[in-house]
Amino acid sequence: MRSRHRGAPGAASPDRRDHPRDCGTTARQAADKSGQRTSRGNDVTPSLDTTILAITNVVALFAENLDQWDLLRADRSLIPHAINESLRVECPVPQFSRVLTEDHEIDGVPSAVGSRVALLYGSANRDERQYPDPARFDITRRPSDHLAFGRGEHVCPGIHLARLEIGVLLERLADHVARFEIQESRPLLNKGLRGLEYLEAAIQPVTGTG
Ligand code: HEM
Repeated sequence: MRSRHRGAPGAASPDRRDHPRDCGTTARQAADKSGQRTSRGNDVTPSLDTTILAITNVVALFAENLDQWDLLRADRSLIPHAINESLRVECPVPQFSRVLTEDHEIDGVPSAVGSRVALLYGSANRDERQYPDPARFDITRRPSDHLAFGRGEHVCPGIHLARLEIGVLLERLADHVARFEIQESRPLLNKGLRGLEYLEAAIQPVTGTG
């Protein structure tokens, strides 16, 4: 199994400087053409790289945690929780930037309307107040939740498609793969996205005895 990722950081264009790179036309460009705006001062960057990274991350996590792979293969109802847990531990969009449309105060710190803020989803996903032993990949963790898709009005609208793609892949891999073994991997160097630029894994196929 090989995954090669386009991921070298490039010079950021003015429209993209605060956002992950994406695969093509941004939703803002599309929205601007139709006369709509998505949010003040922001473009948005769906959807290809995030899903590729999420898929690569989940394979790497199972290769490193074969006990968890055995659990999933024995009980396919764990797949939705495995997707959540992998997105929590390895968050493809660890931070996102937004501009405040009203004044806020968080933990006594005021932030004025118009301020640009960074939402640290990757950090929140490993908040030990919410997730005991946060670095541990545990598909039996409950509740299995995370902030990898954001939250609120601008929550990722691709959630269901992304979950469907990852879920179908895990189903098929669980049918055919008994073991993954990472041969080589390289981290992606990118300001906005987190994951692997390259992952090569050997697989041990399922035999008659599983
Ligand atoms: C595992 C895969 C994915 C991850 C981790 C992900 C993550 C995110 C995050 C963190 C945001 C920003 C949310 C916020 O501002 O709070 C976002 C926005 C968005 N995503 Fe995704 N995404 C994924 C897949 C997709 C897919 C498959 C699509 C489309 C088919 C998509 C379309 C979008 C769009 C259009 C926005 C902008 C929404 C807005 O600003 O109103 N994403 N995504």
